[in-house]
Amino acid sequence: MKLFVLLSLAFAGIKALAHPAQDTFLDVPASVDAKFKKHGKYFGVATDIKLLKEEKNAAIIAAAFGAVTPENSMKWDSLEPKINAFQWAWPDYLVQWAGNHSQIVRGHTFVWHSQLPDWVKNIKDKAELTTVMKRHINTAMGRYKGKIYAWDVVNEMFKDGNGELRDSVWSKTYGDGFVKIAFETARAADSKAKLYINDFNLDQLNNAKTQKMISKVKEWRAAGIPIDGIGSQAHLKPGQAAGFGAALKGLCAVVPECAITELDIEGAKAEEYATVAKACLDIKNCVGITVWGLRDPDSWRKEKTPLLFGADYKAKPAWNALLNAVQ
Ligand SMILES: *[C@@H]1O[C@H](CO)[C@@H](O)[C@H](O)[C@H]1NC(C)=O
Repeated sequence: MKLFVLLSLAFAGIKALAHPAQDTFLDVPASVDAKFKKHGKYFGVATDIKLLKEEKNAAIIAAAFGAVTPENSMKWDSLEPKINAFQWAWPDYLVQWAGNHSQIVRGHTFVWHSQLPDWVKNIKDKAELTTVMKRHINTAMGRYKGKIYAWDVVNEMFKDGNGELRDSVWSKTYGDGFVKIAFETARAADSKAKLYINDFNLDQLNNAKTQKMISKVKEWRAAGIPIDGIGSQAHLKPGQAAGFGAALKGLCAVVPECAITELDIEGAKAEEYATVAKACLDIKNCVGITVWGLRDPDSWRKEKTPLLFGADYKAKPAWNALLNAVQ
């Protein structure tokens, strides 16, 4: 009797050591990424060091996702807030975490008008701006060479509504000529990384911005600019999921690969998440989906409760809809 009790105590101890995560946190959901992998695609999430250091967040991301995008830590104002003084601690942590958990990383983002420090915005001289852009791209891509699956090289360069060039230090200095410089620099810095142009409101095929993205990317690729992919951010409002598939098909048709890069849907209706997932599954060169955060309270638009997990770390109904949508 005594021996039996001792043995079972010892056995329980070994089990606890072998499965520490399960003992502290039992509610890890089934993996949507595992289902996407069967189709050769990934299902990822935006996060960063602070959330990756929260045990429950990290446990869910480790168990149920296959890719991470740094939500903020690789944006210019975070990565190079002062000229040539790069801040590596936060992005290093994310890249290392991803490696430790066999997850791929989408690098995000270089040439963008927002979260761009004033010292860059205020550059008036074209040669100086070119030096600064090239150094930024070369330094980040050099550090993470071989560890980043894809980079968003250019982000949100088109205006909403008419799809014209957005006003920024980039467009003021080069017109759209920064696209060629940025992509050629990126290709030379890491020839294996997939290079993306990324934007939002590409959700309906007939809107001017979607059409502009399609025609300009066609033109740039024909001219030899090394754009591998289009990222459709997919920050959706209720009702927009319906036309999303047709728009994605149009975008994916002009590039070797494409991805849904920042998905969130106001209200997180289960059918709408399923519709968007099916849109990617139905397109051969759509390589994966990234949702823009794990839990609603950590979302950039938390009041819209657009994500797949609630404050209690429980999967919302849309999670099961995704599991069911992907066979
Ligand atoms: C990755 O794993 C190494 C080796 O186990 C460990 O030292 C490091 O802290 C881990 N880093 C992260 C961010 O998980």
